[in-house]
Amino acid sequence: MEISFAEADEPRSGAVVAGVWEEAVLTPAARRLDEATDGAIRRALSAAARFKGKKDELLPIVGPPGLTVNRIVLAGLGKPAAVNARSLQQLGGNLVAHLNSAGEAEATFAIDVDEADIEPADAAAHLAFGARLKSYRFDKYKTKEKPEKKPSLRRITVTAAAPSAAERAYQPLDKTADAVFFTRDLVSEPANVIYPESLAAQAEALTDLGLTVEVLDEQKLRKLGMNALLGVAQGSARPPRVVVMEWRGAGGDASGDNGSHQPLAFVGKGVTFDTGGISIKPAAGMGDMKWDMAGSAVVMGLMRLLAARKAKVNAVGVVGLVENMPSGTAQRPGDIVTSMSGQTIEVLNTDAEGRLVLADALWYCQDRYKPQLIIDLATLTGAVIVALGHHCAGLFSNNDELASRLLEAGKAVGEEVWRLPLDESYDRDIDSDAADVKNIGGGRAAGSIIGAQFLQRFINDVPWAHLDIAGTAWSSKDTATVPKGATAFGVRLLDRFVAQYYEKA
Ligand code: BES
Ligand code: MN
Ligand code: ZN
Repeated sequence: MEISFAEADEPRSGAVVAGVWEEAVLTPAARRLDEATDGAIRRALSAAARFKGKKDELLPIVGPPGLTVNRIVLAGLGKPAAVNARSLQQLGGNLVAHLNSAGEAEATFAIDVDEADIEPADAAAHLAFGARLKSYRFDKYKTKEKPEKKPSLRRITVTAAAPSAAERAYQPLDKTADAVFFTRDLVSEPANVIYPESLAAQAEALTDLGLTVEVLDEQKLRKLGMNALLGVAQGSARPPRVVVMEWRGAGGDASGDNGSHQPLAFVGKGVTFDTGGISIKPAAGMGDMKWDMAGSAVVMGLMRLLAARKAKVNAVGVVGLVENMPSGTAQRPGDIVTSMSGQTIEVLNTDAEGRLVLADALWYCQDRYKPQLIIDLATLTGAVIVALGHHCAGLFSNNDELASRLLEAGKAVGEEVWRLPLDESYDRDIDSDAADVKNIGGGRAAGSIIGAQFLQRFINDVPWAHLDIAGTAWSSKDTATVPKGATAFGVRLLDRFVAQYYEKA
């Protein structure tokens, strides 16, 4: 789908969208269309009893008189005070869904929101951004799809008084959408295509954008003592990898040794397929476990985005890539491994594997980079879905300021997180009789907190946050800006977090 910006002009073909404020107050563009159609807009508004101009309401007027366009779509804008970047993204996304189901090939968004507290150029850019985000589709393996089933919309023109200013405001958002699509693609690919080596190769390709990418192979991981991660990988024919990506946008050395340029660190769980291992999962729904690498794909998408928009920050991304399989070489329940930190872990359930991978990835990252903060993302527990469903991700942190920054960033971009507690009383539940720590708690209680407590055993004195994205990485239904499937939840949240709090002016 092509997106461009242009000055308002009388639209001649396709669909034209104009805004209507609550209580059916016409925007200037809607008023102009009303004149051009000899009052068709006002007639439609009085005929459509349920259309009030509220947010998310759309009213199509097909074959309007006096114009050559196929249709006019009136878009409810709600109240001016409620219009912001996020609401405009949602409108852009809703319009793409609406126009695709109407079979339109091109559309002009003539949506002026001058009464609202947002720069007109930004308003146009966010409309376009929402439209682009919603246009995502993972259809490369559908070889027989009929053209009439494919999305019809090819081109959107967003009108703006100053098109070049809108274009400028859109540039970073366009790069954000590129990164989101990159992550969605990686998460959507099946596990016969994306496995540790092929996922590492996808990271290596990011060097083109100016990232430094290092791939640690099995031999190196063994030398480093990452036996917790290696234990998960040992049942698979696919060898594990750890990938380290550095972005140095703030100058200095990206390693923390000189103090002042300490990087932000992002760590991702990359289990390219999670069968559960010997503690095998039931068959129903196991295919979902192809997206158990979403945390790593989000870290890769974020690093790609920071490089693409040349963020003035130093950042490092570390992803632990393994496949969790049952086999004659697989780890057994009860096995004890010595992690890179030196702590021994009793592996009582081989399906609690993400935390084993992260234990070594977190330790390595912390040890090598001395980051100013560390944030991990993982599809860690089914229990977080029980607790929070599919809207909020679980947030755990040892630092209140870091937690509140993540909460704010999540609200701003519509990728929300909800904080859950960490506490010594939960931590006791993972004390092992045989080793320093065990990888599951005593029962089924507080499963997500137990997972987070386990990770915290591998965190020293650094501000740390853990995002459990098991409920938010994949969506079974469409939302305004995210079609069903891989969401890339976390890319926009962390990009906003970096831009808002850590980039040098
Ligand atoms: N990858 C799963 C968690 C998961 C479940 C992600 C559903 C997305 C959807 C994780 O490795 C896992 O299996 N966790 C176990 C932990 C348990 C054995 C303590 C779980 O949640 O059941
Ligand atoms: Mn598992
Ligand atoms: Zn898993």
